[in-house]
Amino acid sequence: MSADVIIRRMGRQDLDAVTDIENATFAVPWSRDSFRRELEQNVAARYLVAETDGRVIGYAGAWIILDESHITNIAVAEPFRGQGIGRKLTQELLQYLSNLGAGYATLEVRVSNERAQNLYRSLGFVSVGKRKRYYEDNQEDAFLMVCEHMPEVQEDFSEEPWPAAANAEKTEINLDTGHEE
Ligand SMILES: CC(C)(COP(=O)(O)OP(=O)(O)OC[C@H]1O[C@@H](n2cnc3c(N)ncnc32)[C@H](O)[C@@H]1OP(=O)(O)O)[C@@H](O)C(=O)NCCC(=O)NCCS
Repeated sequence: MSADVIIRRMGRQDLDAVTDIENATFAVPWSRDSFRRELEQNVAARYLVAETDGRVIGYAGAWIILDESHITNIAVAEPFRGQGIGRKLTQELLQYLSNLGAGYATLEVRVSNERAQNLYRSLGFVSVGKRKRYYEDNQEDAFLMVCEHMPEVQEDFSEEPWPAAANAEKTEINLDTGHEE
């Protein structure tokens, strides 16, 4: 991997670049608004980006609740794949989740996505089951993978203040309708 790739916390300013990669990568992409809500409203969500020369070229994120964590998405922009960036992002995310108290991480991956499966296996994930017709675009099955060998907690870890959350406007959710108010 080129030395000038940095991994850092995703912020609001990254939403356009992240959405562009998401749209170019996935058949059923998350919207910009979904990512925005993750940053601003989901207290369980943590997202990282890979950046080089001021350009966002990949991202990875997860939800963490107590000792459980679930990786929601990982993608690297096409021209930058195969250079170790996906590995670095996933390693840094696992480290982050471990530091926050996660004892294990889970994820789903398409049965046809061997590249991603190879990456996850090399980082300690094992397949523990299949979710039938998990993907809505082509009804493809997913492997459910689990990593129970999380990185050692870093002694000097302290979480940076959350820029996106700090600026967030408070949104009230109507519990009857589920709509934002
Ligand atoms: C999956 C993805 C994130 C991996 O990122 P990447 O930067 O290309 O991967 P890396 O260069 O870090 O490679 C990591 C590992 O992936 C595997 N890999 C990489 N390229 C591969 C290829 N062409 N074929 C098979 N395995 C491959 C290898 O195990 C590799 O480890 P190694 O280099 O030590 O052999 C990236 O390819 C991507 O964005 N794909 C599309 C989106 C996607 O599938 N996301 C995952 C959804 S679950």
